[in-house]
Amino acid sequence: DWTPGNVIAEQVALIREQVGDARVICGLSGGVDSSVAAALVQQAVGDQLTCVFVDHGLLRAGEVEQVERDFVAATGVKLVVMDEKQRFLAALAGHSDPETKRKIIGREFIRAFEQAARDIVGESREHDSDDTEVKFLVQGTLYPDVVESGGGEGTANIKSHHNVGGLPDDLQFSLVEPLRALFKDEVRAVGRELGVPEVIVARQPFPGPGLGIRIVGEVTAERLEILRAADAIAREELTKAGLDDEIWQCPVVLLADVRSVGVQGDGRTYGHPIVLRPVSSEDAMTADWTRLPYDVLATISTRITNEVKDVNRVVLDVTSKPPGTIEWE
Ligand code: XMP
Repeated sequence: DWTPGNVIAEQVALIREQVGDARVICGLSGGVDSSVAAALVQQAVGDQLTCVFVDHGLLRAGEVEQVERDFVAATGVKLVVMDEKQRFLAALAGHSDPETKRKIIGREFIRAFEQAARDIVGESREHDSDDTEVKFLVQGTLYPDVVESGGGEGTANIKSHHNVGGLPDDLQFSLVEPLRALFKDEVRAVGRELGVPEVIVARQPFPGPGLGIRIVGEVTAERLEILRAADAIAREELTKAGLDDEIWQCPVVLLADVRSVGVQGDGRTYGHPIVLRPVSSEDAMTADWTRLPYDVLATISTRITNEVKDVNRVVLDVTSKPPGTIEWE
């Protein structure tokens, strides 16, 4: 019988068996998957767990604050926030191939987790408590991530999800992935049963590599600023229009290497297009493009072209999955 309670009982037992009395860290992104994975591991091994939030600079506006406010307040987990913006930007400089970018981001995440693990052990030595090594890394990998990263039998590698295909070969942690067999709606049910707050459980998906895979082309600080501003406007208007429950997610994508001619006031502009990619889906394995109301699209378009520098065109992606994937990279 599939019930969230059964899944929790089974996973708690498995996690305890796998981890023993070792220390565990969990990469928390603020999203549904890593939050539910963390809550599950906390249930199993309590304060052997430390959550690590890596601020890679590829986040949307307001995300770090949301993790601290909502998740930590609700669960009381130990949280370490690492500012790794410069490290990620430096590592991504000069790269525009999607798989290369994903692999770099996956690798840098792991490097940050390794640093966090050393810090945690160092700190506990100073306080003369036990100095158990950090041996395990929790990840909120779901079944569709496994399949699409080529982890399932007879499947092709469509893209390397940062928490599956994007890991470096010399990984020093054993992975704890209690959600590996679950789909998103099941993860949400488990999260609710564990008392994870609704604002997190109901959140739309956001990929671990963040805005890094929504800039088609090289990732730079300036481009991130443009995309972050456009994304904030789209999210604000979709929420205002009451459409959050209707859409699965709406990636906002910057075509950084494309420019087109426009006119604003008396002047010619030569700016970048922003793509809106609203999709409806059950499990992200397939998706349809969401028929958003024209007036909402019009408001988003007007605001983005007026308020975001260097953007002079907004286009709508009307491709289902397949053949398109949800994210552009
Ligand atoms: P695609 O683009 O493969 O996306 O159709 C399917 C779902 O997965 C999310 N996604 C990711 N999530 N790490 C994640 O945690 C990743 O590397 C990743 N890539 C895509 C995407 O937002 C969509 O919900």
